[in-house]
Amino acid sequence: MVFYKFERWKILNILITGGLGFIGSHLVKFLLEKTENNLIILDNLSTGKKSNIYNLVNKENISRVEIIKETVENVDQIKLKNISKIFHLASHASPTDFRKHSLEIMMTNSIGTKKVLDIALKNNATFILASTSEIYGNPLIHPQNEDYYGNVNTLGIRACYDESKRFSETLSMIYKRDKNLDVRILRIFNTYGTNMRLNDGRVIPTFLKQALTGNPITVRGDGKQSRSLCHVSDLINGIYLISVIKNIKYNVYNIGNPEEIEIIELAEMIKKMTCSCSKIKYIEELDDEPRRRRPDINRIKDETGWSPTISLREGLKKIIPHYKEML
Ligand SMILES: NC(=O)c1ccc[n+]([C@@H]2O[C@H](COP(=O)([O-])OP(=O)(O)OC[C@H]3O[C@@H](n4cnc5c(N)ncnc54)[C@H](O)[C@@H]3O)[C@@H](O)[C@H]2O)c1
Repeated sequence: MVFYKFERWKILNILITGGLGFIGSHLVKFLLEKTENNLIILDNLSTGKKSNIYNLVNKENISRVEIIKETVENVDQIKLKNISKIFHLASHASPTDFRKHSLEIMMTNSIGTKKVLDIALKNNATFILASTSEIYGNPLIHPQNEDYYGNVNTLGIRACYDESKRFSETLSMIYKRDKNLDVRILRIFNTYGTNMRLNDGRVIPTFLKQALTGNPITVRGDGKQSRSLCHVSDLINGIYLISVIKNIKYNVYNIGNPEEIEIIELAEMIKKMTCSCSKIKYIEELDDEPRRRRPDINRIKDETGWSPTISLREGLKKIIPHYKEML
């Protein structure tokens, strides 16, 4: 049994699984600035890294962070007490990982989620689940609202992620209904920002790397598929607001930026903004790739007043210098 260093302090802690990843590291920075809690990060470093935190957090605040290197499937081996909130973010999230890490993804979002829910129950903590727009699969309605059940191919390459996230949602709802756990589910739509891995495989880092190195910008299929892209700082504000509401009205909330763009337009925008001489090259489409993505965010807007404030163009302007530095 591993003990963590904040146990003796008897003040309430926040647990962030996957806190060394892209979204997790920004959440850690935000919580350190906004709250007085100590933060416990549980992460197996599969895609996350400690430098993501050190890049964002100042020296004074770092003493309030404890990092535990472990997979969520083993979280029951760690003695975690005095936890008031859990942000459960641990999971591979890039489509290029779906083939390479399919079994791991299934286990993380099933056994892992179950064990994290048990920690929440033991501590009577609020449990915030990072779910995904991928639970809508290749959607048959547009924009997607929370009442839509989705259109997922259970047998395809993406299913390990889509279905296991759906399982995580279902399991969380069982803990809410049967065990009275305070559960809040967020369906996160595509998000971008600093601390995304350059070789992550998701569209923004891929296009930026290609554009900044003069390599062809690879557009899948006809490029007419759309995405709605949210800057990470907007996302984090929304996650936080949902986590602090006293009497939450719904079980699940979409969170993302409804500004929709076709992938070919995005490629052209990035090429122009980086003054790149890259050519645009069409390549094969991935199986079951969603054609359209746009969140209906009326629910979160009505309840918290949240809506994104950063346009895609502004967001890209903010992150391009960071990507230049990474090359
Ligand atoms: N970024 C997006 O656009 C997006 C969209 C929808 C949903 N999400 C969800 O948000 C969460 C964070 O995504 P991200 O974009 O920051 O991805 P990321 O890969 O940057 O971060 C995931 C983190 O989880 C850790 N991790 C993975 N499996 C683990 C395990 N079994 N045990 C412990 N740690 C583990 C990784 O090391 C990493 O630090 C994920 O749950 C993802 O499904 C992200």
